[in-house]
Amino acid sequence: SLRVAILISGSGSNMVALAQSMQGDHPARPCLVLANDPAAGGLRKAEDMGIATAAVDHRPFGGDRAAFEDALLRPLMDAHPDLIALAGFMRVLTPEFVARFEGRMLNIHPSLLPKYRGLNTHARAIAAGDTVAGCTVHEVTPALDDGPILGQARVPVLQGDTAESLAARVLPMEHRLYPAVLRRVAMGERGLLTLTDGMVGSA
Ligand code: GAR
Repeated sequence: SLRVAILISGSGSNMVALAQSMQGDHPARPCLVLANDPAAGGLRKAEDMGIATAAVDHRPFGGDRAAFEDALLRPLMDAHPDLIALAGFMRVLTPEFVARFEGRMLNIHPSLLPKYRGLNTHARAIAAGDTVAGCTVHEVTPALDDGPILGQARVPVLQGDTAESLAARVLPMEHRLYPAVLRRVAMGERGLLTLTDGMVGSA
């Protein structure tokens, strides 16, 4: 089966959803969970699921992204991944790093791209008065949060929403969308998948 390395920075709830999906007749299996923070809560969850883990703390490298990525590549290449899934991985990767895995690296981003690349996506959607928000799974290309879109899930923005309440509505959709897209990619399908929740008549 295909080998999937999952890169995380934090709690790893998307990592758990991906890992739990790769069972039975699924064409892929997790081969490594790799974090840029040794304290990332997802590392422990991965260990509990019996998945190999590694951490490369980015902080000692200061601003030297190339040196950090060289260190990241050691455990990553040792795991021989066919696919890489960024799942709440909060470090920007250099074009050189991305190029190594062209077409084989996915990311989930908590907005309806191309809207709200970068950080604070839910606060920005609320501030803009958007009535619909969501998340996107895309192929990673050198430009930030900009590769071909493989899946999107939409949720309504409700009266009185805060960034936190909107995030709490989007995150469960992330946990549905990312495994669904990963499965399709592992099977060689790259069409656009869309999910909706609590709304009628969306595209
Ligand atoms: C998720 O909401 C993910 O979409 C977001 O971080 C969260 C990670 O949660 N990713 C980004 O903002 C990428 N720039 P998790 O660790 O529980 O999966």
